[in-house]
Parts: sequence; structure tokens; C-alpha cells
Amino acid sequence: MSDYHVPVMMREAVDYLNIKKAGIYLDGTLGGGGHSEEILRRLDGTGRLYGIDRDMEALKYATERLKAYDNFIPIHGNFRDVDILIPEDVMLSGAIIDLGVSSHQLDTPKRGFSYHEEAPLDMRMDRSSGITAEEWLNSASEDEIADTIYKYSDERWAKRIAEKIVKMRQESPLKTTTELVRAVDMAIPKAVRRNIQGHPAKRTFQAVRIKINEELDMLPSAIESIVNRLQIGGRLCVITFHSIEDRLVKRTINYLRNPCSCSPNVPICTCGKQPKLKTVFSGVKTPTQEELEQNPRSSSAKLRAAERV
Ligand SMILES: C[S@@+](CC[C@H](N)C(=O)[O-])C[C@H]1O[C@@H](n2cnc3c(N)ncnc32)[C@H](O)[C@@H]1O
Repeated sequence: MSDYHVPVMMREAVDYLNIKKAGIYLDGTLGGGGHSEEILRRLDGTGRLYGIDRDMEALKYATERLKAYDNFIPIHGNFRDVDILIPEDVMLSGAIIDLGVSSHQLDTPKRGFSYHEEAPLDMRMDRSSGITAEEWLNSASEDEIADTIYKYSDERWAKRIAEKIVKMRQESPLKTTTELVRAVDMAIPKAVRRNIQGHPAKRTFQAVRIKINEELDMLPSAIESIVNRLQIGGRLCVITFHSIEDRLVKRTINYLRNPCSCSPNVPICTCGKQPKLKTVFSGVKTPTQEELEQNPRSSSAKLRAAERV
């Protein structure tokens, strides 16, 4: 088992991909390469796997881990750019995306994802581009911070947290994760904080991370781009870790199953939009009790699978 990241629902997800030995697959969130390795094990020498990650550290780690497979092609980038990252003429037999951050990213203090460690407020998955959490938190308006925290985490104290952040930065700019935790602590009344399950800053950190990495707004079009690259019968598996993310994936899959925009009153479809997907099972699959015991970080995971039609 890798120290970098324990893959979540690995066998189930790869089983649902229905791997063909000579197929061409995409892992859009390579991470430590756990799902990728399971796919590669099921391919023969003629099949191949593209593995994308926006984090160079992940790419380096997984490339080393998977160096025995010469049918593995690592790519640095964002899976939303799948169209330009994999060759134009390649149609995929299946694709997997396992969203969010890896344990390695969370557990490396200098990355700034963790509310448990004092570290610079970075939070970028791709440290070669984009603005850091520090830059955003010290420049965005109070309304934008409040809206972002609420939108990406359902944090009911978002307004007060934004107020505290702005107050603190008037004294001196926020620089560390500890300062962001302090802003949250000061914003949420003590009595409420005591009853919150998990760390009081968990939601705020999640929201800021999603904002900095533009994780959600691109998801529907990114999924559609991947689906457009699937061969008929090719499958897409998506693993999510919080309800906002899962809702978006569910809506996108539902839309691609039934994109028709005609009024229900017209007898025949005139918009011409054809379904691109059918579901492989209804609803979601979740980790087994055994996996939950072995890997508590899998507790919020939800797997959805759909097939190109
Ligand atoms: C949950 S981990 C994946 C773990 C992986 N399945 C494994 O078995 O080790 C998510 C990884 O996806 C990457 N990632 C998240 N969003 C991405 C995106 N839009 N494009 C490319 N990589 C992304 C993160 O940098 C992180 O390394």
C-alpha cells in the first residue's frame, strides 16, 4: 500500500470500468497512481493508459511508481483540457476521475491544505500557476469571500468568517493556515464550535481550496469533454468526496443521459440533442465497512458510473 495516498474504492471503480485488455484508458486524477496501477495490471501490452495530474509532485511520484509499465503515459495538466492533452485521434475505452486532493497533498504542511499544521496559505494543486490562497484572501472583497465560503461548503457562518478575515487583514495580511483557522474560530460562537462535528475550519478550508483550484465550476464541461472522447460502450467512473461535488456530477450525468431541451408538450423531439450516456447502476456506490475501517478518509466517498451510448 502506498504512503502517498490510499486509493479509495479502487477495485470497485476499476471493475466498473469493465477493462478490455487492449483498451485505451484515462486516469484524469493520477495522484499516487493507485487506480492507475490497478488499470495497468488488467491491460496487456497492447492496451495503454494516460494519467493526468495538475500537481507535478504527484506526476513525479506516480511516474516512478509505474515505471515498469511502458504503456503508461503521464501528462501534466488539468483533465478539463483532455481535448488538448491526449492526441486528437484517440478514443477512450474508459476514464476515471477521483476528485479532490490526495493524502500526500493534505499531509504535506507546506502545501497549505491542512488546518492542523502551521504553513503558508498556498492551497494550489498546481504550484506552477494560479493565485495562492494568501493572495486571494488578502485581495477579494468581503462579499466575494462570504459567497465563496457559502457556495463551496454550505458553511452557515460564512458571512461572519469573511468579516473576520477582512478585519484581520486590515491589521496585517493573512499569511498562514493558523491565521485562517483563527479567523474561523473567532467568527463561530464558542457554544456552536463545541458541537461541530470535525474541525470548525474544515468547511472554510474546503471552500477556499475549491476556489483556488477552480475545482467545481469547470466540472460539467470537463466531464462532457471526457465523455466526448469515449468510444461507444466506454465507461466513466467518478469518485466524489462531498455533497456539492456529487450533486454536480449527478446533474451532469443526468443531463448527458437526457439532454433533450424540447418542451414536454411537443410530440417529437425537435432539438436533436441525443443522449451520450446511460447509467451503469442507479444512484451511488459507497465504500464497504471493511474499507471504512481500514481507511477512514474514504468515509465520504461516492462512486458514480455511466456508459457512452
Ligand atoms: C484523490 S487524489 C487521486 C488519487 C489517485 N486516484 C490514487 O489512486 O492515488 C486527486 C488527485 O487529482 C489531482 N487533481 C484534482 N483535480 C484535478 C484536475 N482538475 N486535473 C488534474 N488533476 C487533478 C490532484 O492533484 C490529486 O493528485
